[in-house]
Amino acid sequence: MRSDNSEPIIRRVAFLFAMEVEGRQFATRLGLVDQGRLDPDLPACWLSGESPGGEGDPLVLAAGFAGSDGVAGCDCIGTNAATLTAYLLCRRFKPDLLVNAGTCGGFHARGGKVGDIYLGSGAYLFHDRRIPLAEFAGYGLGRIPALPVRRLCEELDARPGVVSSGDSFTTNPEELALFDRENVIAKEMEAAAIARVARDLKVPFLSVKAVTDLVDHPDKQSAEMFEQNLHRVTEDLENRLNRFIAWLAHGRRIADFE
Ligand code: ADE
Repeated sequence: MRSDNSEPIIRRVAFLFAMEVEGRQFATRLGLVDQGRLDPDLPACWLSGESPGGEGDPLVLAAGFAGSDGVAGCDCIGTNAATLTAYLLCRRFKPDLLVNAGTCGGFHARGGKVGDIYLGSGAYLFHDRRIPLAEFAGYGLGRIPALPVRRLCEELDARPGVVSSGDSFTTNPEELALFDRENVIAKEMEAAAIARVARDLKVPFLSVKAVTDLVDHPDKQSAEMFEQNLHRVTEDLENRLNRFIAWLAHGRRIADFE
């Protein structure tokens, strides 16, 4: 469906990455400038600048990163750091659109292949918040509505589907049953947490996820596939994000995604 003209054109776009490797090259190749930490006492950091010239008007872009844990020395992956980073980035940059880009586990059972690109659609779930108490069960699962993205999927050669987040890389039988029941196509560790902050702050939210591994691969472990494919797949992700920026530069509205 095409948008009506009363809706604002998207001009300010913030990209949020959990891991440096998922987005640092994307940000620096775009010429975004290091803005340091989002909060002086927290590891989350960001870059910003204008999108390079091309057709259309330039966009104002930000790239936020969850940063590195001061004790463990690794990137702050997972829902806690994602929530904080999303909050700080939205308050500081005030985006018209917040995009969580990164890698995910796909599902062979639902046609997933390494290198596929998915756009979050339907709902964002949390698969590891099991709370069997009536009033909290729905809160635990999240089911945060996603933007309709049918047209955007066509533009970017991506597939739409349910993205589910949790704080573990490995899975257990209960989670595997949930993925099947809910038709989950992308399992990762941040999107639902960011979707929740974005919903509360009334910032339109999109997730763009590139498959590095298959959660239900018959014989290969996800972690092994992830390490093998990470660099190649993040190159594909970067190309797709650049296509998205070029498309947005023509003056798009959120309803144009639909
Ligand atoms: N990121 C990439 N692959 C993943 C997986 N299998 N689980 C969680 N996060 C991921």
